[in-house]
Amino acid sequence: MDTLTTAVPPEMKISLGPLHLANPVMTASGTFGYGAEFSNLVDLQRLGALVVKGISLEPRPGNPPPRVVETACGMLNAIGLENVGLDRFIHQKMPFLRTCGSRIIVNILGDSIDEYAILAEKLTLVTGVDGLEVNISCPNVKKGGVAFGTVPEMAAAVTRAVKNATDLPVIIKLSPNVTDIAAMAKAVDESGADAVSLINTLIGMAIDIHSQKPKLANIIGGLSGPAIKPVALRMVWQVARTVSIPVVGIGGIGTAEDAIEFLLAGASAVQIGTANFYNPAAAEQILTGIEAYLSRQGASSIHDIIGSLRTTI
Ligand SMILES: Cc1cc2nc3c(=O)[nH]c(=O)nc-3n(C[C@H](O)[C@H](O)[C@H](O)COP(=O)(O)O)c2cc1C
Repeated sequence: MDTLTTAVPPEMKISLGPLHLANPVMTASGTFGYGAEFSNLVDLQRLGALVVKGISLEPRPGNPPPRVVETACGMLNAIGLENVGLDRFIHQKMPFLRTCGSRIIVNILGDSIDEYAILAEKLTLVTGVDGLEVNISCPNVKKGGVAFGTVPEMAAAVTRAVKNATDLPVIIKLSPNVTDIAAMAKAVDESGADAVSLINTLIGMAIDIHSQKPKLANIIGGLSGPAIKPVALRMVWQVARTVSIPVVGIGGIGTAEDAIEFLLAGASAVQIGTANFYNPAAAEQILTGIEAYLSRQGASSIHDIIGSLRTTI
């Protein structure tokens, strides 16, 4: 008699501290708008979480054009954190986001510690916000424009201020433009962050040799896409070995194989950024690909591969 075997799908649920997600595939801030822009292209309910474009207290116009340049295996952007500001986000963007069936993480940015704390406090009262991701790759106006994310004490101070202002889960998003990423991660871990995400863009530039001018009006910009993946993977691995909180891997992830590399290196979840621009279905395809990989490996859960990198040859 034939035995009927039913393949049991692998368990995909993960937790970032108190934030529980149906699966580890999220979209990265600034590359997925406010969700609605992708709703005809992507089944938003399948995403583990949707991270919205960074929100500041007041609307920001961003930098003048040109703001985006293609590079070898990546792109440079100097959007300048353009966004609709907190009030318009709450009244114009949240009504759709509440209905989209995905976890909603709001990425916040400020130019003072107080601004981060006020954003966190106000967003705590907004129905449908499941967590905060804190972009610390922003200049601290009171400290002469030094980015919060490049000095451990400043990153720790932002973390404490946000944690004191909210009971929402707090993910601190690290800047890669530092000498010692593990020290930055340790500082925010010890200051109460529920998770860390990394990496934000790497600072770069490009020059048009015909006009002999910078290709970006802002001269410098943030490099993202496949070009940064090895750097991001190395940093995720270093951070995952250092902190006790969950790590979210970001940087050049465009395929399931890329995402699995980050999971093996110790990331509990991943975010898809630049890939959304050239393949809007990337996040869904990556989720399907991770599930298929787990089944091929005979793994019953995503947790079987998180951090299971074998470092002995
Ligand atoms: C056009 C653009 C806008 C971005 N805006 C934000 C933002 O508002 N806040 C933020 O924390 N990161 C922002 N990022 C960084 C991405 O979320 C991500 O960390 C980075 O691009 C690396 O991932 P990737 O290589 O998959 O794109 C932006 C990236 C791009 C390309």
